[in-house]
Amino acid sequence: MKKVHHSILPDFSHDEISRGLFIKHFSIHIEKDIYSRIYSSKLNMLPNKISKKNDLYKLRKQLLKKVGYKFWSSLKRINQELLFDNLGETIFRQINRFSFNINNRYLRFGNIKLSEKIPLPRYITSVDIHCMPGGYTNEISKNDFSVGTMYDTSLYHYSKNSLGNYNDDMGNCTSSWIKTTFPSFKPKKILDMGCGVGNNSIPYKINFSKAKVYAIDVSAPLLRYAYIRSNLIKTNINFFQQNAEKTNFENESFDLIVSHLLTHETSLTALNNIISECMRLLKNKGLMVHVETDWGTEKSIVNRLNLDWETHYNAEPFKTSHDQIDKYKLAQKYGFKKKNILLTKVDSHSKNKYYNGRWNLFTAIKET
Ligand SMILES: C[S@@+](CC[C@H](N)C(=O)[O-])C[C@H]1O[C@@H](n2cnc3c(N)ncnc32)[C@H](O)[C@@H]1O
Repeated sequence: MKKVHHSILPDFSHDEISRGLFIKHFSIHIEKDIYSRIYSSKLNMLPNKISKKNDLYKLRKQLLKKVGYKFWSSLKRINQELLFDNLGETIFRQINRFSFNINNRYLRFGNIKLSEKIPLPRYITSVDIHCMPGGYTNEISKNDFSVGTMYDTSLYHYSKNSLGNYNDDMGNCTSSWIKTTFPSFKPKKILDMGCGVGNNSIPYKINFSKAKVYAIDVSAPLLRYAYIRSNLIKTNINFFQQNAEKTNFENESFDLIVSHLLTHETSLTALNNIISECMRLLKNKGLMVHVETDWGTEKSIVNRLNLDWETHYNAEPFKTSHDQIDKYKLAQKYGFKKKNILLTKVDSHSKNKYYNGRWNLFTAIKET
């Protein structure tokens, strides 16, 4: 399908498409054939239950002595690098298409406010997150938004088109879940923290059409892309360059605060600050929902090891520790009452499934 925001997505040459297909099928081969034939045959050495983080560490060290595991792991890492190498070449070839002055009068939907004064957190600048070259904040020219093109396109490729036509499955499912679970809840002001390219912010404007939707991120080039993208989709979103740990919104500004794939990419200190900031920003009876991929780590050690692989070999430094945090304790530490905290899962609406086709929701209602 030709996407509405096609003008800010890259065009692919014949060879680039061909390489993309190779990378996709190589990834399926690694995850299906190589995983089951070589890696999983080593898994019978695993105990049935492990508890402490140290045990996970020990298991990884044991696995690293197995050639099959190292073979699978190296190929998986190489495939991720290939994905971004191929995409990087495609985008760089057309780099002049991916900068635009956001003060252009044709951008009439919503608004944007960037702030050069926002210091970038170290957890953002010191790692090329999930091997994306340059991370989230790379800028080549003054009005550059190419990192947005890179991130948005990589979602289609990495997820093998399983996040919906607009990479918005998480936002769609979560906003629908909120509507069904709390039918009388009519949020007037909504905040999406760590909005990136705004893909998951837009469903909230669609599902709660009367609400004013704000979306924040620390990355200026991502926000430029998000603003242009939401204009192409003709949706009113207000984008601000702000750190979710400490925003400049007033106390009790929002009825609903959401985030998608933010919490596993921040340090433990930052995550604490974000939950504390949610408590400050929510109105009484307001709802907070942080959405993440469901790795099913409560079900098996293998799932935990798969997630742990991301931490060590896919430049996702906080994934394991994020998974191990007691979310009930965390929310209570900042004043949410235990009875108002709910950890739940929602099914993806997408036909193709991303991982096991479910999203993990960490939700809490503020009650003063
Ligand atoms: C994995 S991306 C998710 C983007 C988007 N929400 C999505 O669903 O695809 C994480 C985003 O969080 C942003 N981010 C990380 N820490 C942040 C913070 N403290 N404040 C605001 N944004 C942050 C990053 O810049 C990045 O855009």
